[in-house]
Amino acid sequence: MHWIITLPRVNYENFDVVIIGAGAAGLMCAIEAGKRGRSVLVIDHAKKPAEKIRISGGGRCNFTNIHASPENFLSQNPHFCKSALKRYTQFDFIAMVERHGIPYHEKKLGQLFCDNRAQDIIDMLLRECAENDLTIAMETSVSKIQKQDDIGFALQTSIGDIICQSLVVACGGLSIPKIGATGFGYNIARQFGHNIVDTRPALVPLTFNDDVLEMCKSLSGLSVEASIGYNSTHFAEGLLFTHRGLSGPSILQISSYWQDNSPIMVNLTPQVQIFDYLKACKITYPKQDIQNIISDILPKRLAHHICDYNGFSGRIADLPHDVLSEIAAHINQWAIVPNGTEGYRTAEVTLGGVDTDELSSKTMESTIVNGLYFIGEVVDVTGHLGGFNFQWAWSSGWAAGQVV
Ligand code: FDA
Repeated sequence: MHWIITLPRVNYENFDVVIIGAGAAGLMCAIEAGKRGRSVLVIDHAKKPAEKIRISGGGRCNFTNIHASPENFLSQNPHFCKSALKRYTQFDFIAMVERHGIPYHEKKLGQLFCDNRAQDIIDMLLRECAENDLTIAMETSVSKIQKQDDIGFALQTSIGDIICQSLVVACGGLSIPKIGATGFGYNIARQFGHNIVDTRPALVPLTFNDDVLEMCKSLSGLSVEASIGYNSTHFAEGLLFTHRGLSGPSILQISSYWQDNSPIMVNLTPQVQIFDYLKACKITYPKQDIQNIISDILPKRLAHHICDYNGFSGRIADLPHDVLSEIAAHINQWAIVPNGTEGYRTAEVTLGGVDTDELSSKTMESTIVNGLYFIGEVVDVTGHLGGFNFQWAWSSGWAAGQVV
């Protein structure tokens, strides 16, 4: 593998394929194109390839999900992802991981993580790149792209002028600019007449004002298994109170659906109908204090906060049914309105992106410009939390890699 780390100013004649972005999708596409004997150059402005893989899954990379299917993805066209996901499945990627002897395990809900470190996945991809004699130019920027009808594309880059037949845009989304995310992929799409579906941070903690923020601060660090709903969508997983608002898997999942200024519905005890429970307790333990009863089913700090804040106190026998119903609503149907999200600084992904109406779902090629391809997160396909976003990167990268 020719790996240009520094920036020699060379004239880089012709490549069959240039891929902008050495992330999950770009490397997968490069490997597949390389296997077909295509000469491939991968360009990336960052110091190291695949930095997002390195920091993913808490450093262990949740590289796919056993249950991946089109229902796990959001897009203006929910059918678009089907073809690529079907042709290169989670089991194909698992087979690659096993071929390289990388130990992994299922954490929960079909989520597969490396036993050791995410770097194992990066090393695997780079090994495959080396086997297929690909060139990866890191710390390289692209300043101009022109379509040239007879030859393909002419690129002006910081390592010289490059000509290629196929140009693959694999620049990812806007999340975590600190490690190299930019809107460059969207700019290239716009340059060639593509529509961009509005982008916004997703899989991101939600923030709150006033009373809810104060509550979150005072309970910071506490987590419960909760069900979070937005319209007809629900996720039942962990919820975490933080000093900025709410986080945890269930909140990250619902953030991909949540729209500004509308409430989310939090059920802090999805397994227990609190009104029925309290009515039963009133008969069985009439002398019990309401705070102690609630502390039996919620963490004590949370139970006390709910009771103190709302003035619920005293023996349960003395509380009328309408008060029990009010308490139940605070626990089973806590409606709160986020004032926003933590934004791209902490979002795992970007919702929206290159409009799938102008891409082939089989090859990821632009239907506007021959030889131009978009893969991975830059496309308007966004997965749920749980390894689905990497599966989209592998599947879409593989699909383009068969034809570029
Ligand atoms: P990706 O972002 O990986 O790669 C894009 C590449 O393009 C980068 O190398 C970047 O430097 C380069 N680039 C950008 N602009 C450029 C420019 N102007 N010029 C040249 N190069 C440029 N998903 C999942 O399935 N399981 C998980 O465990 C996690 N965990 C996770 C944790 C965190 C903290 C984040 C932020 C994200 C995740 N994700 C995840 C999401 C996952 O990382 C993401 O969806 C994929 O990395 C997308 O792959 P792409 O190859 O499309 O973009």
